[in-house]
Amino acid sequence: MKKETKNPAIDRVDGRMKVTGGAKYFADFDLPDLAYCVIVGSEIARGILTGIDTKKAVSAPGVVGVFTHLNMPPIPGWDMPVSGQSDGGKPKPATEETYRILSSPKILFDGQPVAMVVADTFERATYAASLIKATYNKQSARTSLEKNIEKQVTPKGGDYKRGEAEAYESSVVKLEADYKIPIEVHNPMELHGITAHWTGKQQLMIYAKTQGVNATQQAMAQAFQVDPENIRVHTEFMGGGFGMGLRTWPQETAVVAIAKKVGRPVKLVMNRSQMFTMVGHRPYTVQTIQIGADQDGKLVAINHAATAETASYEDFTEATVNMTRFMYACPNVSTRYRLVRLDRSVPIWMRGPGEATGAFALESAMDEMAHKLKLDPIAFRLLNYTQTDPEHDRPYSSKHLKEAYERGAEAIGWKNRKSEPGMLREGNSFVGYGMSTGVFNAFRWEASARVILSSDGSLVIQSAVTDIGPGTGTALTMIAHNVLGVPFNRIKVQYGDTSLPKAPTQGGSAIVSAVGSAVFDACSKVKNELFALALKDGGALAGRQPTELTLSDGVVAVEKEPGKKVAVDVLMKSSQLTKIEKDADSKGSPDLEKYSMYSFSVHFVKVKVNPLTGAVRVIKAVSVADSGRIISPKTAASQMIGGVAGGIGMALTEEAVIDHRFGRFVNNNLADYHVAVHADVPAIETIFIDKPDPVINPMGAKGMGEIALIGFAGAVANAVFNATGQRIRELPITPDKVM
Ligand code: MOS
Repeated sequence: MKKETKNPAIDRVDGRMKVTGGAKYFADFDLPDLAYCVIVGSEIARGILTGIDTKKAVSAPGVVGVFTHLNMPPIPGWDMPVSGQSDGGKPKPATEETYRILSSPKILFDGQPVAMVVADTFERATYAASLIKATYNKQSARTSLEKNIEKQVTPKGGDYKRGEAEAYESSVVKLEADYKIPIEVHNPMELHGITAHWTGKQQLMIYAKTQGVNATQQAMAQAFQVDPENIRVHTEFMGGGFGMGLRTWPQETAVVAIAKKVGRPVKLVMNRSQMFTMVGHRPYTVQTIQIGADQDGKLVAINHAATAETASYEDFTEATVNMTRFMYACPNVSTRYRLVRLDRSVPIWMRGPGEATGAFALESAMDEMAHKLKLDPIAFRLLNYTQTDPEHDRPYSSKHLKEAYERGAEAIGWKNRKSEPGMLREGNSFVGYGMSTGVFNAFRWEASARVILSSDGSLVIQSAVTDIGPGTGTALTMIAHNVLGVPFNRIKVQYGDTSLPKAPTQGGSAIVSAVGSAVFDACSKVKNELFALALKDGGALAGRQPTELTLSDGVVAVEKEPGKKVAVDVLMKSSQLTKIEKDADSKGSPDLEKYSMYSFSVHFVKVKVNPLTGAVRVIKAVSVADSGRIISPKTAASQMIGGVAGGIGMALTEEAVIDHRFGRFVNNNLADYHVAVHADVPAIETIFIDKPDPVINPMGAKGMGEIALIGFAGAVANAVFNATGQRIRELPITPDKVM
């Protein structure tokens, strides 16, 4: 691999398919005799279903079946001792309740399915669903975290502490502040759902919206006690995931059960309001940060406590407080994480997940502290910079964060920032600058891949991995090109199907590292075989060593010796090979005991605040990533831009609001839940440090999806403070909070 050269910015390999309608999403697959499922959701958030009248629905035109807790077909695996409900058998921590879809009249959250209606068209299913009448014995719903905070539980994993607990109290300069993150909902363009088709008694074909086809296969194998080999899951394209496809949801499993019962393929596409209650969300989280420093600005202590909502029936946890343990050189650190079980559906990871929640608090507090100390926020961070991980007391595999601070500061024009707030104006608006750091684990999970080189010089890469949008196919193409020298337009990637070599779920910014390593290894095997053939061939390369050979553009050659070469197609023909096919299984992270592996980012923003309305606009954003070697510069930049767009939403507009009298959302649609749109998003500059990590994988690439978002909201809050002197500690930063 050409380690020291930057990769060229090639176009997204599936771009044309995606913009011309050639890409097929799960709901696009039409099947003979397909039936359509529509969910009827509970109108209360807590209580008992006292009656459900399905008579009219059952006799409505085209209805194939109506399923409630009274006639739902069994899901055999859910009664097994290690019932993981729908998570492939992973046991869940014990909670107060159990939620099994359509298995009991108990209502545990708003929108919980009380009926699933199947008809021969979507319209008929929708109409029949409207005829169902449910009656309830309603109980008052506990949906407010604040009102139920005394009921907090300690999840597994526990608290963290190093140094002295009282160090904060005795610090010379102290800061304590509370931060709040609202409920946010992933809201990808593509609606969630599944099509289930039993092609035999024990044979199942699934088209789903999942971030991991192998995970869905496992979940369904467990639920239906079927050999995973007999279940095929297909998700080649996804219209955005943001974390909601990281598990199999109960209604998906229910559709599979119903399809079996009605004996024909069944498709479920949820509606937008159901996307707020059935496929997870970023949990409402309150945090308290205490920072203590000495007069010179050296950190003495940081205490970080977070309390997040979860469901009554499942404890969802995420790494909200973890960054605080290792981000800065600080001798005394404690973190605490609690959950409050509410009458709400269970959260799931969302965009940079808990790390983004935690970074908002920590990086806002760092900014507040810098101001208190009369230090520049970057200078304060550099003063407390660490090149070894203080949590695990070991070096980082690579860390170029200082360079990231420098380059970002230069690009945003940090020198124009005034240290006192409210000093800069453009026209009538206040102007301010803010920055924040982001960090996320650089993972490398186990993955497999297959590559097939044909004698015509074309290459096929195969992996089950799903591409939820970041450009996985393009990155894998680049990796194969770098090893084998096959031109980009001769490489084809086949992915998103369990019939292909096994891959992890796309998430956690781990896929280029994991699947890329497998592709790298498989290509290396092909290359070694070509070299062996070339040396055996007895032609121009006779007597050479493999280490002397190069491979590019379909030619094996000796470097700097023109004429000493043999074409791959000639070589394969003379060896009577039409193709060379190699599989590779790539293991997980190497040297995890020796190194801490993280990707880092720095976000800089310039904001404008209207003094009359309090409206905040991000007018410039610069995001810098230290995520190792950048494999595909163009799709990486696109992903970074997408992260910033999500970050602007998180900072300024996104909030799912519950009316706690009813325990229901009041803005469960895309008109009232405001994701950042074009008008909210300025030109975004992305900068990549692009230095290979020497440890994590042969490409030197660390993940970069999550760090595109992590920290961004803090940078906006810090810029708003710099512009106005208003310190907003509760997202989103809406005009009412600024005024
Ligand atoms: Mo991501 S929140 O790992 O899909």
